[in-house]
Amino acid sequence: MFKINDNYLKLPGSYLFSTIAKKVNEYTAANPDKDIIRLGIGDVTQPLAPAIIEALHGAVDEMAHAETFHGYAPDLGYEFLRSAIAKNDYADRGADIAADEIFVSDGAKCDSGNIQEIFAQDNKIAVCDPVYPVYVDTNVMAGRTGTYDPKTETWSDVIYMPCTADNDFAPDFPDEVPDIIYLCFPNNPTGSTITKDQLQGWVDYANKNGAVIIYDAAYEAYISEDNVAHTIYECEGARTCAIELKSFSKNAGFTGVRLGYAVVPKDLKCGDVRLHDLWARRHGTKYNGAPYIVQRAGEAVYSDAGKEQLKKQVGYYMNNAKVIFEGLKDAGYTVSGGVNAPYIWLKTPDQMTSWEFFDYLLENANVVGTPGSGFGPSGEGYFRLTAFGSYENTVAAMERIKNM
Ligand code: MLT
Repeated sequence: MFKINDNYLKLPGSYLFSTIAKKVNEYTAANPDKDIIRLGIGDVTQPLAPAIIEALHGAVDEMAHAETFHGYAPDLGYEFLRSAIAKNDYADRGADIAADEIFVSDGAKCDSGNIQEIFAQDNKIAVCDPVYPVYVDTNVMAGRTGTYDPKTETWSDVIYMPCTADNDFAPDFPDEVPDIIYLCFPNNPTGSTITKDQLQGWVDYANKNGAVIIYDAAYEAYISEDNVAHTIYECEGARTCAIELKSFSKNAGFTGVRLGYAVVPKDLKCGDVRLHDLWARRHGTKYNGAPYIVQRAGEAVYSDAGKEQLKKQVGYYMNNAKVIFEGLKDAGYTVSGGVNAPYIWLKTPDQMTSWEFFDYLLENANVVGTPGSGFGPSGEGYFRLTAFGSYENTVAAMERIKNM
């Protein structure tokens, strides 16, 4: 009789955003006349920028002719896209990353879930708490997290680094030294970030302790302050300790198009073994590449017109962030985030739990957000709203919350 991977049975409940979608669907089925405003999942709402649409159309037309048709993409991505990434996201920022250290993929969610495969099972992971659930859940599936304690909502073999108002939502170095450290800055879910100096501290810590940092920089485009690094490779020594994951979802609206990339520098080694080679092997074996038309769309992100249009799009969402931040403050809430990230993190009022506030907001304002506790125990008593809605819906949501 076959056996299943029973690590899956250890996972409590369903994936956070599936649970929320289910709850909202139940509410709308029972209340079909209610106009729901969704500021829960970090999904974008603005259409793709004209430069991207033009590139997509052009690439679709190429696919219609034998001379310009493209089949399987190269394993690691088309050279035109990897060079554009290497130049714009790294060289122009003074970071030393070569095009052949970039692995194009269909998004940072998959990369952040898959990357753990190249590490041994007995590595100890450290995560911020609260945290993007994918990092922990995929390590659970791999059998790396020990046992779950429903009381504390923690795993026995995971090192949690609490990020709360007490430490300005910036993790402290843990007491126990981890092997793999997941960091995401600007942060999902808290919307806070750390300075370049603080990030340098993590790079030094990892190099000193022989740890690897998985650095999720999906929200990099939202950085507005000068003292924040746009890539971990702005820090000295990061080439020997860090993998960086990037997404086109949040900076260019590709949530439904799917494109991302991972950077694995060739200097990142375990003994003599280059992690770059392991990831290349995995990528080549399990993945057939992001579609040609999508990679051409990705290239357009770095064109002059694309850059100009996307700057405006990010500005549009950041204006929403300001509307939410100020609206909540006016309504008496304790708020953070929203300055270098499209997420606003608020303290739930009147000692409500995160899920109590979720229900309260859904029922009384018909606004959907994300309960902080869904991201980890230190998220309890917090709540996340996203700036990715339309301006009109964002303003309307704030009016409703003020009148609640
Ligand atoms: C979120 O809401 O946290 C994001 O949409 C998750 C993701 O990008 O996968």
